[in-house]
Amino acid sequence: MDGNGRWARERGLARVEGHAEGARAVRDAVETAARIGVEYLTLYAFSVANWARPRGEVEALMRLLVDFAKKERSELRSLGIRVNVIGALEDLPTGTRHAVEDLIRYTADGEKMTLTLALSYGGRQDIVEAARALAVRARAGLVLPEEIDESFFHREMTTRTLPDVDLLIRTGGESRLSDFLLYEAAYAELVFLPIMWPDFKPTTLLESVELFSRKERRFGRTSDQVVRGEAAAFDPLDPAE
Ligand code: FPP
Repeated sequence: MDGNGRWARERGLARVEGHAEGARAVRDAVETAARIGVEYLTLYAFSVANWARPRGEVEALMRLLVDFAKKERSELRSLGIRVNVIGALEDLPTGTRHAVEDLIRYTADGEKMTLTLALSYGGRQDIVEAARALAVRARAGLVLPEEIDESFFHREMTTRTLPDVDLLIRTGGESRLSDFLLYEAAYAELVFLPIMWPDFKPTTLLESVELFSRKERRFGRTSDQVVRGEAAAFDPLDPAE
């Protein structure tokens, strides 16, 4: 969700006003995704690197999360949306953490869509922590190195309950992943949009999904194999993989 700061600057506003407008775009995007049948939506709301931003901006983002958790919880529950977090929730200020934990509990029964907020999240960090956890278990004799395959490894990550990424959308005009879901996006379709996040409208999501639906996903196979319906060696879309 890149471009909040630039959106604000272009209008002579403070960066935090761009984030506030960004939060409104979040609400619309979440509702649209649930309405069109997206089962998993993951939003990069705050990266580990974002802690380096000016204190006032970090505090404003934390307040927006609290507002979102409090104001949207009834709507999220009524839409059948379950909220989940990846990243280091324990690093957030106590008030924000409690609001998010409350939101997770309040929406726990949602079955239509899982909305995952990436908070104090870093893709590399998640990979490294999984490796460390496995190393600790291997040293204790609880895991054999030959048991460690991709699915085994994924079960150690904070994304363990999520399927692989199908479609990754980045606004703001940059064509990079910035440490988002590095492991999980191995076969994702990447869409980079020139618009700033506050300008992301329900129709923007629909257009991106439409673009995605026209892609041939080969997962390493040839186009002919895909047309013949030959199975891939693994199913990257299966959360149990
Ligand atoms: C990146 O834009 C955006 C962020 C670091 C924060 C994203 C937060 C929100 C959209 C609002 C709060 C979230 C929720 C889930 C309620 P940037 O600030 O780097 O923009 P710039 O590149 O134009 O400066």
